[in-house]
Amino acid sequence: MNRVAVAKGLALLYTSMIFLAIAWGGYVRAMGAGLGCGPDWPLCNGYLIPPDLFTDINVFLEYFHRIIAFFTGWIALGATLYIFKEFRDNRKMILSIAVTDALLLIQIFLGMLVVNQHLNQILSATHLAIATLTFGASIFMTSVAMSLRD
Ligand code: HEM
Repeated sequence: MNRVAVAKGLALLYTSMIFLAIAWGGYVRAMGAGLGCGPDWPLCNGYLIPPDLFTDINVFLEYFHRIIAFFTGWIALGATLYIFKEFRDNRKMILSIAVTDALLLIQIFLGMLVVNQHLNQILSATHLAIATLTFGASIFMTSVAMSLRD
């Protein structure tokens, strides 16, 4: 596979993971499961893997929201390292993925604050607002990747 195809695939995967995190987050909110892991982070009710993960729907929903964010973070890291290595001369590509990464980091940090502060309304609304910005930035970044040529 050539480097342009890899970059396009990574950008698409990155954006898809953000989409999945947003959709799952909406379900967490709708189900009132935001404190399914208690105010803990990164642990969930004091556990790395909570014993009631598959028996308590609130734990399941909140835990998997975090798991999706965890994998999104690793995919973001892989995509960013690859783009920085292979396309370091493409300023638009570098800038757009760096902005997406910065927003993702803020979003994950906000997620931690939302639970630490027991779903404070302002923090929760900010978590939603930054999610939309992160998704917007990732779509822009993916469209830049789609226009890459070898
Ligand atoms: C990829 C990163 C993430 C994205 C894109 C994301 C996105 C979202 C979205 C869109 C919602 C629904 C908001 C609403 O309907 O008002 C949500 C809810 C929530 N997220 Fe995240 N999230 C991310 C990471 C995290 C992390 C790492 C945590 C926890 C440590 C977290 C904790 C929560 C909680 C507790 C809620 C429910 C809030 C409530 O019930 O008020 N999120 N997330």
